[in-house]
Amino acid sequence: MKFNIEQIIRTVKSAGEIILTAHEQEDSVTAKEGKKNFVTKYDVAVQEYLFKELANIVPEAEFVGEEGDSNKDTTALRFIIDPIDGTTNFMQDYRCSCISVAICEDDEPILGIVYNPYSDEIFSAEKGKGAYLNEKEIKVSDRTLADGLALFGTSPYHPENTDETFALLRKVFDYSRDIRRSGSAAYDICAVACGRCEIFFEKELQPWDYAAGTLILREAGGIAETYDGNSPCLSQGSDVIFSNSKAIEEFKKLM
Ligand code: IPD
Ligand code: CA
Ligand code: CA
Repeated sequence: MKFNIEQIIRTVKSAGEIILTAHEQEDSVTAKEGKKNFVTKYDVAVQEYLFKELANIVPEAEFVGEEGDSNKDTTALRFIIDPIDGTTNFMQDYRCSCISVAICEDDEPILGIVYNPYSDEIFSAEKGKGAYLNEKEIKVSDRTLADGLALFGTSPYHPENTDETFALLRKVFDYSRDIRRSGSAAYDICAVACGRCEIFFEKELQPWDYAAGTLILREAGGIAETYDGNSPCLSQGSDVIFSNSKAIEEFKKLM
């Protein structure tokens, strides 16, 4: 046994306190790339806390985190962490952001945890052991996309993708019941995993956005793929689709 999931869940939940007790988030920006991409002191604080505490639980693991300072050896046992997925939401106190923590081995996620501290929802999975929301086992829905909800990401840090994203979104909107955008990709993937929605898609998402969600969704019976039908890459960004088995087939016909 390489790790104890309960201990990791407890650590992620206590990191959630940093998010819940944050104040003046918009004034806490420490870096800004362009018009849409921000880092706050809280993103850095959550990541530092997790790196330190999780290193005590799985000392042999390496760390990749969104906020730099990462070891990127892709063959090693490693954590892939997004300390705050949904930073723009966080800055504006929109109250929909998650901590995403995966353990990966040989380029495959073997543990995934996504925690939304605002709703106190913890999604978790270990490879081969099913997926859970808090204590309850979860499954993807069996709705079609035609009778379902579609989630999407706007690929906000890559404006060259905007036209393609919105052209596809238009078709998906016409075809499905409706569309939604939460502002946290990790949360969106988990919403598909627990059957609230049927599909989530976004171009050029990064491994820390989807490493944990990929395992949670697969363990819930869903499909995680790139736009060209491969497994989402854990060492660089991918164009990704997370879905149940019905909706993805309909979606591919709209692409
Ligand atoms: C972002 C969110 C957003 C998605 C972006 C991500 P961040 O993560 O998941 O929903 O559209 O592509 O980068 O920057 O808030 O950690
Ligand atoms: Ca993110
Ligand atoms: Ca982030």
